[in-house]
Amino acid sequence: MSEQAGALVLFGITGDLARKMVLPALYRLAADGRLDVPIIGVAKTDLDLDGLREHVRAACGGVHDAAFDKLAGNLRLVAGDYRDPAVFARLREEAEGKGFLVHYLAVPPSLFAAVAEGLAGEGLNREARLVVEKPFGHDLDSARALNAELLKYFDEDHLRRVDHFLGKEPVEDLMVFRFANMLLEPIWNRSYIRSVQITLAEDFDVTERGGFYDANGTIRDVVQNHLLQLLAILAMDAPPSKDARAQLDEKWRVLRAVQPISPADVVRGQYDGYLDTEGVRPGSTTETYVAMRAYIDNWRWAGVPWCIRSGKAMPTTDLEVVAELRRPPVAMFDNGGAPDSPNLIRFRLQPDAGVTFDVLAKEPGRQHTRPVPVSVDFTKVLGPMEAAYERILADAVSGDPRRFARFDLVEESWRIVQPVLDLPDSPLPYAKGTWGPQPAEDIPPGGWHEISTTFD
Ligand code: BG6
Repeated sequence: MSEQAGALVLFGITGDLARKMVLPALYRLAADGRLDVPIIGVAKTDLDLDGLREHVRAACGGVHDAAFDKLAGNLRLVAGDYRDPAVFARLREEAEGKGFLVHYLAVPPSLFAAVAEGLAGEGLNREARLVVEKPFGHDLDSARALNAELLKYFDEDHLRRVDHFLGKEPVEDLMVFRFANMLLEPIWNRSYIRSVQITLAEDFDVTERGGFYDANGTIRDVVQNHLLQLLAILAMDAPPSKDARAQLDEKWRVLRAVQPISPADVVRGQYDGYLDTEGVRPGSTTETYVAMRAYIDNWRWAGVPWCIRSGKAMPTTDLEVVAELRRPPVAMFDNGGAPDSPNLIRFRLQPDAGVTFDVLAKEPGRQHTRPVPVSVDFTKVLGPMEAAYERILADAVSGDPRRFARFDLVEESWRIVQPVLDLPDSPLPYAKGTWGPQPAEDIPPGGWHEISTTFD
């Protein structure tokens, strides 16, 4: 269901996530005239409404007064503990007559069920949608249990699970590039593609969030959600129609075909010094790096390794997908002993965005027909990109479900990574600023291709 919100209820309005992501996005939406509904903040706080406005102003950074006033004028506050039924009674009074409600839970997942129950206690789950942040569960069983809890109060049509990667414009552009053009689809299968490599590298460590990170690790933090969503978008078939459901169904179909990751296809790493981070358990075996091979057992992709790697304290901060094509059946040209250069299709998603084809062209010169690699940029950024959280919040308010993780997709993603969560062996050490432990090099056939930003 996609009812437009009459009011947005923001649980955790004074928390970290709201401060860093949600409030700045709400400000930009309000400033653009795209959000003009009451925003009822709920939080355990000593602030009064004026104090909350100041808090929100500080969170939004350098604001224009007139634009900020639009947001500030819509703010309301219900202060109190989420486990106290009186808070929900006050929220009901505040929400009276405001129409359809969107409850946005920027609170720890351990509170999701309590908030949903509290809302239901006051009838605030009727005529309402519930939006929850990641992580959704800690493994397959806990995700199912959490979902069952939430389903007691909200049906799937009225639940939205945030995966902010789905709000990224370059991620959405993957679908446009694939399905608005005829260029890629004929070769986008096991006959032409040798491997696909997905890299999410971050050059910073986890100093600021040791406690959260140590309880999760790279697989739970970014692979189960963001990177498997990306894989689904890249690997799925064309949806049979334009509606959101058809798109989500196709993503589900392809994830269904992904085999559970085998521990033999995984290399986990931990950067040197991680154990000294505040909040990290002594002797922790949580991974800060992972490289893995996934296989999609369907007619399009059987036998093609989909290689995923992600890590903290890497040499760069990049999100890039590199697909390597098979070699031509006959090598017709002598390349003078240079290293073999396969055709590559690069989807550059962060920090810049676009598609690059690495192909071979004739080196100038009369005496030979020698192929040399050249890069051809296919698309470029056409204008300023909207931040992911703005799009997610705008959709939370409008109800469009396609940029959220439907439960069956979340469930499949947990099933895929379940065998490699909490592996008993210790992760391999790696030095900060490197590409992770050496054995990870063997995850893709022929090794990882350099990503665009690391070569001239
Ligand atoms: C978050 C993870 O979900 O995604 C972080 O918790 C990660 O660890 C972040 O850094 C990456 O997202 P973005 O949009 O900053 O690339």
